[in-house]
Amino acid sequence: MKMLVNLDVNDHCRQVGILPSDTILDVVRHQMGLTGTKRGCDMGTCGCCAVLIDGRPVLGCLTLAADCEGKRIQTIEAIATDEGLHPVQKAFEECGATQCGYCTPGFIIASKVLFEENPTFSREEIAYALSGNMCRCTGYKKILDAVEKAAKDIQAA
Ligand code: FES
Ligand code: FES
Repeated sequence: MKMLVNLDVNDHCRQVGILPSDTILDVVRHQMGLTGTKRGCDMGTCGCCAVLIDGRPVLGCLTLAADCEGKRIQTIEAIATDEGLHPVQKAFEECGATQCGYCTPGFIIASKVLFEENPTFSREEIAYALSGNMCRCTGYKKILDAVEKAAKDIQAA
């Protein structure tokens, strides 16, 4: 049986009817039309379903929507602002770090949080921090180039 919950997604509060088993990935994609968050493995191993809950990255495929009530949910659609793309998004574009793009939202979400914690991470530390995100296309070099560039851009700003 469906239940009503109020979810704060990208700074809009919406009431939705969900099943107890619905994940936040199900809800943002299928009920809210926010398809930037991707479904890859659907079992917690690829990272492409990442969303921010109260500023922390979580795997949308493993997070029940019912548990997100009263929390601030941000999807990839909310990472750019009126001022433009986030530095990580710009760096992905400039470094050619996207091929099919399916993994990109998860990498952007994870990298954004990384730099809020510490923009001085080394390449090795970045690679370790992003090791939960999988890419089937790029071989990772350009992704690491982009994230490293974003770190430098953030420090220089
Ligand atoms: Fe969630 Fe792969 S779809 S980790
Ligand atoms: Fe295709 Fe990463 S760019 S999976």
